[in-house]
Amino acid sequence: MTIKEVCEKYDITADTLRYYERVGVIPPVTRTAGGIRDYRKEDIAWVENAICFRDAGMPVEMLIEYVKLYREGDSTIDARTNLLKEARETILEARKKYDIALEKLDYKIGRYELAQKTGVLKWFDDEEMRRLLTITGLVMSAVMIASCAASAEAPSEQSSAEETAAAVTESETEDTAVSSEASDMPDITESGADTLVVVFSCTGTTKGVADRIADVTDADLYEIVPAVPYTDEDRDWNDENSRCTVEQNDPDVRPEIGSDPIDLEGYEVIFIGYPIWFGEEPRIMDTFVESYDFGDATVIPFCTSGSSDIGSSGTNLAANAGSGNWLEGKRFDGDVSEDELIEWIESLGL
Ligand SMILES: Cc1cc2nc3c(=O)[nH]c(=O)nc-3n(C[C@H](O)[C@H](O)[C@H](O)COP(=O)(O)O)c2cc1C
Repeated sequence: MTIKEVCEKYDITADTLRYYERVGVIPPVTRTAGGIRDYRKEDIAWVENAICFRDAGMPVEMLIEYVKLYREGDSTIDARTNLLKEARETILEARKKYDIALEKLDYKIGRYELAQKTGVLKWFDDEEMRRLLTITGLVMSAVMIASCAASAEAPSEQSSAEETAAAVTESETEDTAVSSEASDMPDITESGADTLVVVFSCTGTTKGVADRIADVTDADLYEIVPAVPYTDEDRDWNDENSRCTVEQNDPDVRPEIGSDPIDLEGYEVIFIGYPIWFGEEPRIMDTFVESYDFGDATVIPFCTSGSSDIGSSGTNLAANAGSGNWLEGKRFDGDVSEDELIEWIESLGL
């Protein structure tokens, strides 16, 4: 095949093909007696590899190294295997980022499409804010937060949504200050084996974060599995009649948990993770916290979301639980690293 034919077949420019060959992304291409490139089957296979792996985000340097090792012969089989495994990890990481970006996009598109129908762009449901801003909501929040503060000696004692937001900002600033010193601290929780991570996760995002928290704290993991699983249709936030929308619109709904109960006895630190649904905790989280006595355990909510913050979901859960020393929670991106999680956990002073 001529270079022109290869360009047409793979929709790639001749400059790129020449560049790949010049820097070693592909081995030297077969040439005619007159020195003209004549892409044979094996040359084409290298071009296909290069296009495929570059499209998937594999760095040029890795491809160059692979071709170099290949040309050195069988003594580099181990090195090539390792390099391919490394490349695989790189591409898996990239795929995770794509999945998260797609999920965020889907969420945002959904919100915009809803706005096209209703004329109002809302990033999350107003229900929670409306409730917070009613006098009853304010009184309940103040009483609940004050009682948490008293029992847990937690620093938060806010009486309005605005103050809560301000406290989150302050605490994030403190987190940053702590994190610069954090790397010298060997143990991130005193309790180790007494730590439990509870998680509810429909599409695996929060579960991924929970797994990492369990890893770094050497904790046990308990997954809340709904008795009736949530289907894609159930989770359709654009459908006002979908199961999630209906459940989240009714603060009294308590979906049944299908997983075996867990004995909380002996756990001193309990992380509780969930996705944000319409600005709040999924109702099944309320089922969970109302089913258990957290005693004196320190309970730390965490969540993932498309973009919304943790809002008052943590304080709602604390209020519904009625036991445990609840700390302020935090929202994470699904791809939060173990290092970031360690910094956060260290900043909690457990
Ligand atoms: C019914 C429903 C409602 C959601 N509402 C919000 C929201 O209000 N704000 C937000 O940022 N993300 C929202 N999301 C996106 C999820 O919070 C996000 O994708 C989360 O990371 C999913 O976690 P999971 O994979 O552990 O289930 C919603 C998702 C669903 C299914």
